[in-house]
Amino acid sequence: MNSSKVFFSVIIPCFNVEDTINKTIISVLNQDFIQYEIIAVNDGSIDNTSEILNSYYKSNLIKVLNQENKGLGAARNAGIKHALGEYICLLDADDIWTSNKLSKLYSFIKKNSSKIISNDEIILEEKYLFYLRNKPPENLSNLLLVGNTLSPSAMTYCSTVFSIIEANLKPVLIDIGYLSSTLNIKELKKKISKKTKVIIPVHLYGSVADLKEIRKLIKNRNIYLIDDCAQAHGAYEDGSKPYKKIGSGTDISCFSLYPGKNLGAYGDAGIITTNNINFYKRLRKLRNLGSEEKFNHELVGMNSRLDTIQAIVLNEKLKNLNIYNHNRNKIAKFYDKNIRNPKIQKIKYSKYCVYHQYVILVEKRDRLIGLLDKKKIQYGFHYPKAIHQLGAFKKQFNKKRFKNAEKIAENSISLPIDPNLNRKQLKEITQVLNKF
Ligand SMILES: Cc1ncc(COP(=O)(O)O)c(C=O)c1O
Repeated sequence: MNSSKVFFSVIIPCFNVEDTINKTIISVLNQDFIQYEIIAVNDGSIDNTSEILNSYYKSNLIKVLNQENKGLGAARNAGIKHALGEYICLLDADDIWTSNKLSKLYSFIKKNSSKIISNDEIILEEKYLFYLRNKPPENLSNLLLVGNTLSPSAMTYCSTVFSIIEANLKPVLIDIGYLSSTLNIKELKKKISKKTKVIIPVHLYGSVADLKEIRKLIKNRNIYLIDDCAQAHGAYEDGSKPYKKIGSGTDISCFSLYPGKNLGAYGDAGIITTNNINFYKRLRKLRNLGSEEKFNHELVGMNSRLDTIQAIVLNEKLKNLNIYNHNRNKIAKFYDKNIRNPKIQKIKYSKYCVYHQYVILVEKRDRLIGLLDKKKIQYGFHYPKAIHQLGAFKKQFNKKRFKNAEKIAENSISLPIDPNLNRKQLKEITQVLNKF
């Protein structure tokens, strides 16, 4: 972060805090206020604390000061000496903040111009991030290999399910909701069993699955949440306050950055985010042929590094993601308002979605397609077959029915949603749809 913009310096003295420090740091990294720095002072720890702090340091997420054990006061003073912020926040290494802690403090300071604010509240972070497991597994392969079943939705891109099969696990499909593109929670409830190890909600079309309800369902069970965010860059969860951006609130989030996505590279690319330090460390190695250090291959990994040229492109495009998402939302609002035809049903999206696709349902799809073709209006199908209808899965899901997913496969049309579409083009499209 730009040092001239540091408002808060968050100082965390650390002495043998390997059991708690991850949660504390993550609760600060999850803040919805960005003008802060974290300074962790390692006060001569003899457990794993310094390794944990170093992994954050290497990712440029925190500063770390190392000193011989001198006690709490001295550790805080060392931190204060190096602080760049206008205000100092002293945090213990087992405290956990709610994600609006700093923004609330900031508003308070701006209103009251206080110099010192004493902290009489230690608010627990929404517990869902951490309650899921008794003890985090050592690594990702344990997570994936001990499990039996994983639950994605029946309407998604094939890759969501291929990844499960590639890990030698059994996918258990869940239907999507009626006129929805995301997991039907009631269905999910029925199908969760003792064998369920992971739930994989897909935020299809940019509409965000009901993560809050899913978290409730898996509370106190040893089930992980991995969300497929390939179509939802920049979307927020509904119903969580302060709002959580997709990619920040599950065990692992997977983003495709394929060129056609809301944030797309100029070739293939993707990212994974996680709040779990064990997954983080392992994933970093796996993507780089099992190594963090040159020629030291500790795992059998793969070459899955993000190509540098793609990273440059993505960094530039990232600056405009919010604008493009905003334009997509404006186009969607136009369709919502102006498509007025009883033969057309509209998919319901989550409140803070990002409209990767705008999808409608029509009974006589071929007729409408004919009209669109005639007017040279592009359209797509996402997807023309539900997962259980694909040749690759014939044996797997033999004779199973997922009626909402099948309805989308049969009746859906994805309308143009390119963020550069203009009003004239949108009017032409809606005219064709309303005349049909
Ligand atoms: C929902 C969903 N999941 C997974 C993927 C796979 O992404 P990639 O092709 O980048 O591996 C896609 C890409 O189209 C997708 O739309």
